[in-house]
Amino acid sequence: LKWSSRLEKHAASILDTLINNQFQAYWVGGYVRDRLLGRAIQDIDIATSAKPDEVMALFERCEPTGLQHGTVLVIMNGLPFEVTTFREETGYEDFRRPAEVVFIQDIQGDLSRRDFTMNAMAIDRSGRLIDPFGGEEDLRQGVLRCVGDPHMRFGEDALRILRCVRFAAEYRLTIEEQTWNALLTQAPLLKHIAMERVRTELERIVMGSDPGRGFQLFIESDLYRHFKSGTTIPFEYLAKVEQEKLSAIFTAIEESTVRWSLLFLVMCMSSEQASVAMRTLTFSNQKLAEISAIISVHEWCLMDSDDLSKPSNLESILKLSAVRYGLVATRLWLKMITLGIDLIQGGIPHPSDWSKIALQGERWLQELPVYHLRDLKIKGTDLINHGYIPGPDIGEILNKLLQETALGLVDNEKQQLLLRANELIAGKSDQE
Ligand code: CTP
Repeated sequence: LKWSSRLEKHAASILDTLINNQFQAYWVGGYVRDRLLGRAIQDIDIATSAKPDEVMALFERCEPTGLQHGTVLVIMNGLPFEVTTFREETGYEDFRRPAEVVFIQDIQGDLSRRDFTMNAMAIDRSGRLIDPFGGEEDLRQGVLRCVGDPHMRFGEDALRILRCVRFAAEYRLTIEEQTWNALLTQAPLLKHIAMERVRTELERIVMGSDPGRGFQLFIESDLYRHFKSGTTIPFEYLAKVEQEKLSAIFTAIEESTVRWSLLFLVMCMSSEQASVAMRTLTFSNQKLAEISAIISVHEWCLMDSDDLSKPSNLESILKLSAVRYGLVATRLWLKMITLGIDLIQGGIPHPSDWSKIALQGERWLQELPVYHLRDLKIKGTDLINHGYIPGPDIGEILNKLLQETALGLVDNEKQQLLLRANELIAGKSDQE
């Protein structure tokens, strides 16, 4: 067996150590699957007849990450490898975890507890494939099939329902009929799965190689209606969008925040609705803020406003967007519509303007002399030193100055800004 990477060489030396000490050891799980498919290898899992304490005794650097499930993390040259004792699982609790793990002595028993045939294969030290459930043939045929009884597999661990959709999308597999039927029957069990887990799987679908297919499967199966915290994500909107087109556009976008923003917009969600959905899905506050900012830029650029303070030309609207929502969010939004305009065109009033913004937007942003208060050459204290009364008016004046400076109506220069501040204050008192 030839090793193509440093990761594989270290994994081989772990197998050698175990075998030289009279234990059985194999490569298992995702590594075997991805190797057969010729895909990039992210990590390598090892299964062995050695018990966790026996594994710990053989390797210098170990972390007991999941001892109760038989897993020890062995670290070789800084690279982590999960080494797990052959096991059977019984009495599943909460439709997620086995109540009891029994360590066993043969690889066949260990493979039979796994979720899908393509994940239930092992490779021994000589490179021989151990494939009791026909995983290799299923992969060749492009079929995703549960090991044994699919109702039981999904019933033991409902997260597998989402894994099924993720794998079918990522590897472009057809879900075998009985597996699909069991997925539909067991879908209500998803209510037992923590929303963090749901988010992680959704994130992998959104960032994967064929998100359009993942979403289509969500629509066909209605899975999203069974999430623990009733989700407010209207996946059904995606039914109108061509799956291949959606995937082609999504995979051209690198940033997760941009893919999610586009997804919410294709589903006609407002920044507020998206925030509620992201909170339900336990997004981090930072990611939630980044995504809502991108959607807010979109809403700001779209709004046919009665807001008289809003400029009527696109260039000024975009420049003010950088002031209101930040340069980063505005750039990401530009990227999103440049690539994804076809998916959200339904809601856009003037298509010609939008193609213009995609072409010229970056240049407009580069022209911005200033977009943040900290860069303005005048501060609140300067205004107070010139006799202005401290209070909210100062903030309002500074914001107005920032906007005018961003639009190039006033130079970012202290004297000029002070003069303009005087005019604004005078205008204000005229109004009163
Ligand atoms: N497994 C399982 N049921 C689960 C999770 C995992 O049977 N709910 C088994 C599968 O055999 C899987 C292996 O444990 O291949 C390792 O799981 P994990 O590392 O989560 O996934 P991978 O299959 O390696 O794939 P990926 O890393 O893409 O999630």
